[in-house]
Amino acid sequence: MTQRGKFITVEGTEGVGKTTNLEYIRNWLQHNKIEFLSTREPGGTPLAEQLRGLLLQPRDEPVDQTAELLMVFAARAQHLNQVILPALEQGIWVLCDRFTDATYAYQGGGRQMDSGIIARLETLVQGDLRPDAVILLDVPVAVGLARAKGRGVLDRFEQEDIAFFERVRGTYRERAQGNPAYHLVDAGQALPQVQAELDKVLVQLKGRWLP
Ligand code: TMP
Repeated sequence: MTQRGKFITVEGTEGVGKTTNLEYIRNWLQHNKIEFLSTREPGGTPLAEQLRGLLLQPRDEPVDQTAELLMVFAARAQHLNQVILPALEQGIWVLCDRFTDATYAYQGGGRQMDSGIIARLETLVQGDLRPDAVILLDVPVAVGLARAKGRGVLDRFEQEDIAFFERVRGTYRERAQGNPAYHLVDAGQALPQVQAELDKVLVQLKGRWLP
């Protein structure tokens, strides 16, 4: 029987260097001849990418928090069932740019929604599926926001204030505490040091998961 693939997610607040570090992880997996699929949330299927567009687009109409939460999980249900689960079942690893930890951090922490409601939707959509490893790239909010602002037009989340992102970061860091699936990487260091830390995490995971 094929061994189920491993599910790795990468998380962090804005401007932590997710794009560059995801590229590093993809190269590492390729180099180690591990078959994987790289995807993102919200998104990862045509329908879920449309929902992503709706979620990120700045708009004059205030967005109801429950509507936002349900759109996030609607996109996730589609992505999970169409893309993530079929790959894992074929033994393919899945590397996902954000997943449900982002919902706890942004909708739970940032928007201050009840984490019990998020947990109920998580169970409804995912059953007992959780990431095998969560790589949390962590930098002080001010550093991350300065980097993100350099990128030009801000999406609906990037337009939030610093207090929002402090709550997002705080929630991620709390979730990392005592959770063995979490690997917190100090992404405020120079890139070679960040990538040396990532390398250590990946070697450790490979040693644990592969014969
Ligand atoms: P990013 O892929 O560029 O990081 O943008 C995705 C944005 O969506 C980011 O600001 C975080 C937000 N988001 C949520 O609010 N909840 C979620 O569950 C996910 C996956 C993302």
